[in-house]
Amino acid sequence: MTSSDHNLVNDSLVNVVLGERSYDITIGYGILAKAADILAPFIAGRKVIIVADKAVTKPWLTRLEASLAPIASCHCITTSGGEAAKSFTRYAELMNSALDIGIDRQTVIIAVGGGVIGDLAGFMAASLLRGCDFIQVPTTLLAQVDSSVGGKTGINASAGKNLVGAFHQPKAVLIDTACLSSLDDREMRAGYAEVVKYGLLGDAAFFEWLDSNGMAILNQEPDILAEAIRRCCQAKADIVAADEKEAGLRALLNLGHTFAHAFEAAAGYDGRLLHGEAVAAGMCHAFALSRRLGLTDGQSCHRVANHLTKHGLPSWRSDLPADVAQADADLLIDHMTKDKKASAGQLNFVLVRGIGDAFVKKGISRADVKAVLDAKTMDESIIDDNTMDEVMT
Ligand code: GLY
Repeated sequence: MTSSDHNLVNDSLVNVVLGERSYDITIGYGILAKAADILAPFIAGRKVIIVADKAVTKPWLTRLEASLAPIASCHCITTSGGEAAKSFTRYAELMNSALDIGIDRQTVIIAVGGGVIGDLAGFMAASLLRGCDFIQVPTTLLAQVDSSVGGKTGINASAGKNLVGAFHQPKAVLIDTACLSSLDDREMRAGYAEVVKYGLLGDAAFFEWLDSNGMAILNQEPDILAEAIRRCCQAKADIVAADEKEAGLRALLNLGHTFAHAFEAAAGYDGRLLHGEAVAAGMCHAFALSRRLGLTDGQSCHRVANHLTKHGLPSWRSDLPADVAQADADLLIDHMTKDKKASAGQLNFVLVRGIGDAFVKKGISRADVKAVLDAKTMDESIIDDNTMDEVMT
């Protein structure tokens, strides 16, 4: 039995095809109330430990617990979210709390919250008793369109983000779009950056659609929002099914992330810079770097930057907190060399040939990255195509 056996009315279902580790992503408005029907195959009669973000506990957690109580024995651990929570210290505290509750190999961990909680609770599930079942209930747009799908779990180390972790696929992902109603506008916009990412990395038609529907997504018009989440989840499911452990294709999901992780490290994970904001600026830098290397044109760079700006997102380093905007480019590049995507000291980036056409390029020179980081604006970082024509004639 899979979660698709529940009575699906107006909900959508995306399947992540991974052989015996395949699972369903169920997307719908208000579906927390039906959580017991959807999740029964995985939790009925078992002990469940819910790891939830304190900030999103009510009413979503109450709804989930009320739905699951008749079929499972639920215990809840709440913790604060925010990137700082993905620490060894917090991980140890949560592991000890789970062990104090008492677990066995049948125990199921459910993550309720944003990407931080999903990564943290997922890594707990991957490591408790060498692996417990795990379910994702993402409550932020960023987690609903990206981090809850695909099985990446982990915590941060002093050397950088997500450097300690495991691939551990969930048994199910339950996306209740109603949860987004309690998100503040800034969190919603930050999640929207990851939505745009799917258009930029491989689906120009989706980017066109976002040009017309982006505001409706931010305003949470139900049908448009659900359609955007479904399309992102389908895109991610296809990529993960083709390349679960990131040997190739999956790396495209890191578009903008090498820059973004360096910006986040420079900001110190103290909440002033949200991951999605760093990704928005990071994607513009990736486009500008592609332009500098002659891979794409200035027009596509400007189109991406204009789209992000129009939707209230940063489009260049100068839009980020002052310490990131003014950070020494060499320091940022040093952060990049510690990134998981760096290999043998080489700087590797997801670059683009245009909107919807991303690819991985290894061995980018430090000088090219520095030139892009040192530009005060995107305009300064690229020679406009028309100017280029003039220069050449
Ligand atoms: N968020 C990137 C990935 O899941 O691969």
